[in-house]
Amino acid sequence: MNTKRDPAIRRHYESDGLAERLLAEIDDPARDIGPALDQFHVGGAKATLRLAARIELAPGAKILDVGSGLGGPARLLVESRGWDVTGIDLSPDFARIASALSGRMGRSDQTRFCAGDALHLPFADDGFDAVWTEHVAMNIAARAALYLELARVVGPGGVLALYDIVAGPNPAPLTYPVPWAREAGQSHMVSAERLKAIIAAAGWTIESWIDETEFAQVWLNDARPPRIPAGPTLRHVMGEDFPGMIANLRDNFADDRLGAVQAVLRKTA
Ligand SMILES: C[S@@+](CC[C@H](N)C(=O)[O-])C[C@H]1O[C@@H](n2cnc3c(N)ncnc32)[C@H](O)[C@@H]1O
Repeated sequence: MNTKRDPAIRRHYESDGLAERLLAEIDDPARDIGPALDQFHVGGAKATLRLAARIELAPGAKILDVGSGLGGPARLLVESRGWDVTGIDLSPDFARIASALSGRMGRSDQTRFCAGDALHLPFADDGFDAVWTEHVAMNIAARAALYLELARVVGPGGVLALYDIVAGPNPAPLTYPVPWAREAGQSHMVSAERLKAIIAAAGWTIESWIDETEFAQVWLNDARPPRIPAGPTLRHVMGEDFPGMIANLRDNFADDRLGAVQAVLRKTA
């Protein structure tokens, strides 16, 4: 598995001692572990459930969560829909933490996590019923290659569910850092229209395409501090500049430099 492929992106998400620190907390039964830690996208659990509700798939369906982070979306899909979820993430630390969290939450049978690159998935052709991806593509420049690779691993008629931040109508440069990038070189934004065209060219047919910009703006406005949840949070993962990343994200959304999209697509026969 080639996880050395994009060291700048890994450096953005990982920090020295992160895995050991968090794994010790997860091992401690006295320590609360709450949802402030493992849903790493605008809108938290609510956003994951909104996207899941747009998909018709029976319990037991095999889902690949690409860029699975700390595994919160995967576990929520198991809990809410009974799907079986495999997660893959560029960060080996994140994959280890995700596995430990699933163990602690009694979800190890229905979730599993590994390290790897979305552009080179270590899975056979046609093996999954759906691919799922939330807030990952913004780190990936090779979008055409990404959506071709995602199509490879689902069977005929398979589903792609995505929730992404996109470039908004205001072409002014973004204010950094944002949660997926501390600098412009780590961020690869495309507009919703461009995204649609790239995905269609990779062999996907659109089933639903929903502009979630307003949902994201409302959530970001409500996410202002003070908010001190029990247990570790994404600030513990990403570092002291995380609140600044959220503030910049809110500003970038406020004047339409960014938007958000949820979409469900089907692999064209
Ligand atoms: C903002 S987090 C979202 C995590 C998770 N999807 C969630 O919503 O909770 C972005 C994740 O994408 C992962 N990522 C970035 N580029 C990737 C790539 N090329 N292949 C796999 N994962 C990648 C990062 O390591 C990080 O865990």
